[in-house]
Amino acid sequence: MYQKIKGTDDLYGEQMKYWYWIEKKARELSTIYGYGEIRTPIFEETKLFVRSVGQDTDIVQKEMYTFEDKGGRSITLRPEGTAPVVRAFVENGMIAQGFPQKYFYIGPMFRYERPQSGRQRQFHQFGAEIFGSPSPMADAELIIFADRLLKEMGLIDYEIHVNSLGDTEDREKYKEALKEYYVQYLDVLCDDCKVRYERNTLRLLDCKVDAKYVENAPRITDYLGEESKKHYEELKRLLSSVGIEYVEDPRLVRGLDYYNRTVFEIHHHRLGAMSALAGGGRYDGLIKEIGGKEVPALGFAAGIERLILSLKSENVQVDEISKNIIYVTYLGNKEVRNEAIKLAELLRSEGIPVGLELMERSISAQLKHASRIGARFCVIIGEDELDRDVVVIKNMETGEQVEFEKNFVVNGIKDMIQEMQ
Ligand code: HAM
Repeated sequence: MYQKIKGTDDLYGEQMKYWYWIEKKARELSTIYGYGEIRTPIFEETKLFVRSVGQDTDIVQKEMYTFEDKGGRSITLRPEGTAPVVRAFVENGMIAQGFPQKYFYIGPMFRYERPQSGRQRQFHQFGAEIFGSPSPMADAELIIFADRLLKEMGLIDYEIHVNSLGDTEDREKYKEALKEYYVQYLDVLCDDCKVRYERNTLRLLDCKVDAKYVENAPRITDYLGEESKKHYEELKRLLSSVGIEYVEDPRLVRGLDYYNRTVFEIHHHRLGAMSALAGGGRYDGLIKEIGGKEVPALGFAAGIERLILSLKSENVQVDEISKNIIYVTYLGNKEVRNEAIKLAELLRSEGIPVGLELMERSISAQLKHASRIGARFCVIIGEDELDRDVVVIKNMETGEQVEFEKNFVVNGIKDMIQEMQ
């Protein structure tokens, strides 16, 4: 028997209602906030991710699904959505459309990580990106949007963490300070941190193994230049002015290299180790970095699998996907079958979810199946009913049966459905 690849999932049945719920809320709210949808390919040139996410990040070093295609090109399954959207923005000359521009996307991402609850190798993100605005108003609006999205979905038990990574010069100064501090521990740091010390210094703050050294490490917020500081203060003021609760988290550095100034993450309290529901920030240098003009930008992405875990942990009731209300059962000659298929189509054309017997079972087996799938009413057609130009409707809850003349059956069923609701 073939098995799915480790860290991937088959999505079907009852769990689909969560996906519908999240995607519906995300699409609706995106429209309200003025985001248009963008769909980019799920694979890109490897170079795009190396350049944007960063050569020394965990994603590029360890987690990318990279392969050579039959034309000898190095291809990578997208580990995240920002770089492809920026590539599309530059390649399609979208800059000409004026600013700000706002895009959202929903789709699968791929990272070769150790699978566990809330961490998969194929996972899905809802992401949103804003191009063109250098203003802290954009940072504030983005965080408000992310917060509103979670609230609209019914979540409450989460926390927003914000930080500023400053501009390039601020960060360089801060990296030097971190190195100065960490040099005393260099011999005892874990192997990963020894590499981080040289190549990805900020990520020293993220290490679970060496967390004890973080407490006394210098804080990035003490190294921000005037402009970054002003930007960060104004963002915080705006968030407070609309009542958004947030925690300042000077250790928050994010795992992708493209960020500057604002970064944020939203953590759910009941998700354990994989608690980050969403993360994002400003990436003012990225568009230029991959060949475009200097255009400030920012965005965030939320993990859909983690949103589902959060919804379940908070017992949020999501809409059920409408099931077949009517099941059309029949037994008899060709005319009976014609009648059954015609009536099913007629009801469906009225927008009523209808199941039609496709298994050629006995009537009692058909009724049993209808009850198993939760149909509220069964239509029963046999040769006798056909001769008399009538159709029998059985209420599956009460067992009551009524007969309708054929011409009145659609209206009769509609009335019964309405009564039921
Ligand atoms: P990220 O923090 O790497 O950011 O991912 C965003 C969210 O995707 C995470 O908070 C988490 O919910 C989910 N996620 C990440 N990896 C996995 C995984 N292996 N399994 C399940 N869920 C996962 C980004 O990807 C940036 N592109 C966000 C962004 C957009 N920044 C600016 N614009």
